[in-house]
Amino acid sequence: MIIAGNWKMNLAPAAAKTLVAEFLKRYEPAEKREVILFPPALAFEATAEALRGRGDIRVGLQNIYWEESGAYTGEISAAMAAAAGAAFCLVGHSERRHIFGETIDDTRRKASAVAAAGMTPLLCVGETLAERQDNRAETIVQRQLEPVLDELASRDAKALAIAYEPVWAIGTGETASPADAAGMHAHIRALLAARPAFAHAPILYGGSVKPTNAAELLSQPEVGGVLVGGASLDAAAFAAICVGAP
Ligand code: PGA
Repeated sequence: MIIAGNWKMNLAPAAAKTLVAEFLKRYEPAEKREVILFPPALAFEATAEALRGRGDIRVGLQNIYWEESGAYTGEISAAMAAAAGAAFCLVGHSERRHIFGETIDDTRRKASAVAAAGMTPLLCVGETLAERQDNRAETIVQRQLEPVLDELASRDAKALAIAYEPVWAIGTGETASPADAAGMHAHIRALLAARPAFAHAPILYGGSVKPTNAAELLSQPEVGGVLVGGASLDAAAFAAICVGAP
């Protein structure tokens, strides 16, 4: 079971340290449970430092650029992230797709760079409300997933995690019903079944996950974890999600 916290554009280094300290007071290592934190890049080192000695909690980056180095002002490469100790990197988060205009091809390149640097891409996929109402949710998710799977397979990559995050559920307080989440997770699992390297990749659910709904979502078939945004900024709420995970 993976419980991931995406802090988004919140928490400078000192605030990150405080949050980690508060969280550690409330969360002991537990078998079969892996916690991954995604601080902003500026707070990566402070977060990793505050977690020293807690090998059950790993740290990732929220975004990288696919080139290795060079004149790309403002960007961070996958190799730089890996050298700093990042084990995971989010790819294709809906805020990247919708606010920053990242295309499916951009996510393909980013996932490829993350894998080439030895990190695990946590690929986020999900449909908008209009797409769901149009009955296109499964097609959209498939379209976001397959180019990345092809790319990773061509690189012989083995590590991948996926997060199903319906866009209409992110930061809105709306959550997919456990049945809707289970339906999409089954669809993703079926797509993965044709890819031996990724057949068992964990599939997380994300979108307004809170202590009050996490356990039920996590008990659905094929829901192998949760990706938590807003509630991961509250140490008590995030610890409650982790402790309550089945
Ligand atoms: P939320 O964000 O939990 O605030 O809805 C989830 C995410 O964006 O990963």
